[in-house]
Amino acid sequence: MHDVDYNSKIAQVQEQLSGAKQIVVLTGAGISAESGVPTFRGPEGLWKKYRPEELANPSAFKQNPQLVWEWYDWRRGLIANTEPNSGHLALARQERISSSFTLITQNVDGLHDRGGSKNMLKLHGDIWQMRCSACAKVTINRQVPLPELPPKCGCGALLRPDIVWFGESLSTTTWQSAWNASEAADVFLVVGTSALVQPAASLPLVAKERGAYLVEINMEQTAISQHADLSLFGPAGELLPQIIPN
Ligand code: OAD
Repeated sequence: MHDVDYNSKIAQVQEQLSGAKQIVVLTGAGISAESGVPTFRGPEGLWKKYRPEELANPSAFKQNPQLVWEWYDWRRGLIANTEPNSGHLALARQERISSSFTLITQNVDGLHDRGGSKNMLKLHGDIWQMRCSACAKVTINRQVPLPELPPKCGCGALLRPDIVWFGESLSTTTWQSAWNASEAADVFLVVGTSALVQPAASLPLVAKERGAYLVEINMEQTAISQHADLSLFGPAGELLPQIIPN
């Protein structure tokens, strides 16, 4: 891993970051993998063991809210026992030294928040928030495990996880901000995503079309690799702190 090519790639990314006016990062489940949060599509991924159509879509919730909540309650418990890793911390560090930095994440685990990131766009929601299925009120809830399943809103209706499920649209304002940031990016970093889920996967390409320098960090080739100006293959928790040292 520490060959000349690798070191020069790290130096190239550092040079791009230090010259950039607008840095945008898109993260996926891979950045939290080293914290112990399962990804979705790898050999050990959640979608290998569970069926998204039974758990992560609105009709599943209508049919069996108890089952859907049991699954989210289990995931909340799992995430509550994890810590942000050196990859999350490195991105927060870059934000602190940058004039303009936007973190767009597909993750719902809250580890970027706990790692110190501030200017964040959560495309797929937040597992620590609940939304009323009737009055739409959003509340933060960190109880683990949940005392009552399925939880109910003060108005009496069922609460649902504040997560974008399959077949649902992203928040328009969040999406518009992510799109605008991507269009304005000088450097765009894609970290730990298979880039298979739309519309999130289109953002690196939008940035690239608008002239951004596109860097990918992943364990393996993805749909983005052929478009990247530079790819680094390895664990984000090791690569990011080398690019953005303490
Ligand atoms: P995936 O599980 O599809 O992809 C995870 C990616 O992370 C893969 O490309 C892995 O190679 C890579 N990876 C794994 N470990 C890594 C590490 N230590 N360092 C760097 N990369 C690593 O997850 P996402 O792309 O995030 O939707 O999936 C997108 C969406 O699909 C998720 O947000 C989720 C899911 O259905 C919702 O929850 C709404």
